[in-house]
Amino acid sequence: MEDKMQTKNIPTIIVIFGITGDLVKKKIMPALFSLFINNQLPTTFKIVGFSRQDISPKDFEKYLFETSAQYKDANIKTRKAFCKLFSYHSGVFENLADFEDLENHLRKIDDDWGICANKLFYLAVPPNLYEAIFKNLAASELTKPCSPEEGWTRILVEKPFGKNLETSEQLEELLSSLFKEVQIYRTDHYLAKEMLQNILAFRFSNNLFETNWGRQNIERVHIRLMEKIGVEDRGNFYDSVGALQDVGQNHLLQMLALVTMEHPREFSVDAIRKNRADILKTLVLPTEEDVRTSAFRAQYAGYRDIAGVAPDSQTETYFKIRAFLSHPKWKGVPFILESGKRLQDQRKDIEITLRHPNPCLCPKKEQHYKNKLTIGIEPIEGVTIHFGSKKEGFDMELEERTLDFRFRDAEKRTQYIEEYKKLLLDGIAGDQTLFVSSEEVRAMWRFIDPIIIGWRKNLMTLAYYQPDTSFVFADSFVE
Ligand code: BG6
Repeated sequence: MEDKMQTKNIPTIIVIFGITGDLVKKKIMPALFSLFINNQLPTTFKIVGFSRQDISPKDFEKYLFETSAQYKDANIKTRKAFCKLFSYHSGVFENLADFEDLENHLRKIDDDWGICANKLFYLAVPPNLYEAIFKNLAASELTKPCSPEEGWTRILVEKPFGKNLETSEQLEELLSSLFKEVQIYRTDHYLAKEMLQNILAFRFSNNLFETNWGRQNIERVHIRLMEKIGVEDRGNFYDSVGALQDVGQNHLLQMLALVTMEHPREFSVDAIRKNRADILKTLVLPTEEDVRTSAFRAQYAGYRDIAGVAPDSQTETYFKIRAFLSHPKWKGVPFILESGKRLQDQRKDIEITLRHPNPCLCPKKEQHYKNKLTIGIEPIEGVTIHFGSKKEGFDMELEERTLDFRFRDAEKRTQYIEEYKKLLLDGIAGDQTLFVSSEEVRAMWRFIDPIIIGWRKNLMTLAYYQPDTSFVFADSFVE
């Protein structure tokens, strides 16, 4: 791993496949722009855009210039300078000759610089194109480093990694036959969220909670990713995946991993990734009975009218699932994974409920409060501890109070930009901590697969909810 402070001295070319797509426009490009204006990119740096569109370099520059107008702190001068970082290469992903042309394109940049630059290949394309790109990258030898010491090559892949365990294993097999694990960067932007990174700091850099972290003290954990937004213009993609594959198989299980993983002993990539994978491997695989009783799914009314969605779609836009770990530290503790779109409130957090003290010095006949620890991601980034406190006055009466920690002011958060900035810089620095390993991908699919299969068999019927309501399925159902 190279020192991240040294990224300025790492001559790099980023090749972005699918440069004119939505992901680049909304997330990758604003992140690159922010890195650019904050002078955080390598001094010797170029971006090569690759896409099927047959547009001239001039039109590409015009597209970039116009697109960059919407980015934070953009002015004409910086936008013009930003455009100078780019060049465009039109090609067909399935066509090897176009990758050989790309090689010439990259060699010209190397020749201009008089070095063999490092190359980061970013696949910002739909997953059905991965295979062709992987194969052509390998066949054209574009991913072959110039020498062991010069010009590393890496590939950065966006989720979803497959559609189920079988297809993800096929993809992994192909990837590992063509590239080494150290070259493969699988993104999950949740890992790059400040509050998710903070879980490690919170647990392992303090002595406040970690000593009793586990089943003796923790009664249940509720992980939520509740969104106000709907599927909007992503009908085509979303209808083929659904909420569980879209955010459950990755973001929610990564949150679970960070809350439950063993102490990594050191801040090293291998230790952290191994411990995340190890805990995910202890997820108890759901049986058909589990799906029948604790894998609830629902769809919001009106979802089927969205362009690209099948008129009789059975795709879930909401789920609430109860999971368990077989790890001795967590055995018997229910983990409720819940996510939905078009809900009334935006709420992304992890709520950890502690067991009631036993014995408890609690006033008789009064309502007793269990301690709760909430790690907030959105709308509030912070940690809230709920505890019982004595009420003011002569009597020994209790009430629930909170200790609140706010990570920063909401306006300081730059959603997606900050996550993608980290992912891009870490890709250049060679730090895989915030990227998902093949072991993690496998463990997550092993858990998700039986649920998808059970749903397909209709072991749990699809329910419906009114959009923009505070729909949550009764807790008693999954507890
Ligand atoms: C993405 C999903 O991975 O995560 C989206 O494809 C979802 O459907 C998004 O909205 C949630 O991420 P965030 O950062 O907005 O919480």
